[in-house]
Amino acid sequence: MTDIGFDGKVAIITGAGGGLGRQHALELARRGARLVINDLGGSVNGEGGNVGPAQSVVQEIIDLGGEAVADGNSVATSEGGKAIVQTAVEAFGTVDIIVNNAGILRDKSFHNLDQQMIEAVIQVHLLGAFYVTQPAFQIMREKGYGRIVSTSSNSGLLGNFGQANYGAAKMGLVGLTNVLAIEGRKFNIKANAIAPVAATRMTEGLFEGVVEKMDPALVSPLVAYLASEACEPTGEIFSAAGGLIARMFVGLTPGYFNPSLTAEDVAAHLSDIRDEEGYIVPFDNTDEIKKIIRIISPQ
Ligand code: NAI
Repeated sequence: MTDIGFDGKVAIITGAGGGLGRQHALELARRGARLVINDLGGSVNGEGGNVGPAQSVVQEIIDLGGEAVADGNSVATSEGGKAIVQTAVEAFGTVDIIVNNAGILRDKSFHNLDQQMIEAVIQVHLLGAFYVTQPAFQIMREKGYGRIVSTSSNSGLLGNFGQANYGAAKMGLVGLTNVLAIEGRKFNIKANAIAPVAATRMTEGLFEGVVEKMDPALVSPLVAYLASEACEPTGEIFSAAGGLIARMFVGLTPGYFNPSLTAEDVAAHLSDIRDEEGYIVPFDNTDEIKKIIRIISPQ
């Protein structure tokens, strides 16, 4: 097995002033990456901000003998995204890796969500990933290399009460990842998503009895692999928690076909339609369309 190393590759990790992002940063730094430690430094709700948390992670990395610079811009604006990438270019001349990790919470049941709660969460998680990744993607295309790791969540992939804003933003990141994987393919740019579970300030009080097992540092080996040259998959989603790594995916069942389909047929064949036996995992929409055409128009 080859060791995963970064050989001076330049990584931007957003929201790396604490929690998961800090662990990803330390892991990549130990393996030789040069880092931009971005963090707005606000509360878990996204209020306030200072560059202190980012600076203290930079200091930790320097103490380890690594290279890092702090960046206090917000991912939530297009100017902020450009400025974060500019920090990498000014400090290290390029960018090879983006880890979209910055995030906030504004939890409320759907009927109680106000516009501000909806927009703030989508702004940071989903639009933030656009704002940071787009200027970096341009550089990656030109150099023919890039790795993008975006932080999704089981709250979006599977759902969680009180997190309509967060869940929608996190599932949006899966859509973004799918398209970046397709558009990046011929430039050796790989894009994958992770769905972590870890004890951080964001999940305080949630994992009583297993807090120690939910060490955020145990998510970082997955990020290091997906951010490395060795990474094979693209356009995939991986769950990571306490050292357990698994693939999550959108699958397609073989389904039920009837060229004169009625609503009654749908009702009568629901169990065939939903039968998971023999499902496939299409890579992109062309894959699915080919399968459809093979069945509805075999010649
Ligand atoms: P955290 O609150 O410690 O980390 C989030 C970081 O993002 C904070 O340091 C915060 O200052 C920073 N941030 C917030 N808004 C920002 C902005 N506009 N610009 C730049 N930085 C900003 O929480 P945690 O758990 O480490 O979260 C990291 C990521 O993992 C988030 O995207 C979160 O949604 C995701 N996640 C975490 C899970 C968990 O179990 N802890 C579960 C699923 C997803």
